[in-house]
Amino acid sequence: MRLYKAKNYEDMSRKAANIISAQVIMKPDCVLGLATGSTPIGTYKQLIEWYNKGDLDFSEVTTVNLDEYKGMPRENSQSYYYFMHTNLFDHVNLQKGRSFLPDGTEPDSEKACSDYNAVIHQVGGIDLQLLGIGRNGHIGFNEPADHFSLETHCVDLTPSTIDANKRFFEKEEDVPRQAYTMGIKTIMQAKRVLLVASGEDKAQALYDSFYGPVTPAVPASILQYHRNVYVVADEAALSKMP
Ligand code: GLP
Repeated sequence: MRLYKAKNYEDMSRKAANIISAQVIMKPDCVLGLATGSTPIGTYKQLIEWYNKGDLDFSEVTTVNLDEYKGMPRENSQSYYYFMHTNLFDHVNLQKGRSFLPDGTEPDSEKACSDYNAVIHQVGGIDLQLLGIGRNGHIGFNEPADHFSLETHCVDLTPSTIDANKRFFEKEEDVPRQAYTMGIKTIMQAKRVLLVASGEDKAQALYDSFYGPVTPAVPASILQYHRNVYVVADEAALSKMP
């Protein structure tokens, strides 16, 4: 694991955007695995800024997102489809039809998951996977469990994740209880992984993931076995690291 210590959220965002830019510049037709959540928003803003300056070109890039709430209409402002469009896709020159997310509107979980596995297979795997981290160590929506789930699957969100995500909804009852998420094997097969973390409430999860035992009870801990992991975190998130 290569750790980049950032002073604060802005510094983290710029450092993470630099790594993504390097990927896009070195391999213009790369496949980027993308993430939602509040942590990567600043990274996306920075990428948009560099795109507007003419320093970045996304015209050959393909993107695959980690996850989507099950049963969430795309036009709902809390869908990850909506999030990705407002925070990145609508502002850069990604080609239409080259950005993929699991289909949250598909009620048949098996179909939604196998369709998404086929998409990932079809794009030829992920060059760089961006990840946030949940307070309980989840990545994508791979929640703490007694085993690692390999490919795209439907998950029941844990009370801790529902609690963390309720801030985006009017009331807690509105937070979806299930999601489709890319699995651990798919994430581990990405050539490079970039994990971003900011704030004190991520400090324990970061410590457990990189200094604790590798266990499905802390899903991000599996990244200890990945050969090319870049962690960009601010001082608050790193406060429990040795
Ligand atoms: C969400 C997403 C994750 C994200 C995490 C942390 O539930 N499914 O992909 O990394 O929670 O979100 P945040 O960055 O807002 O703390």
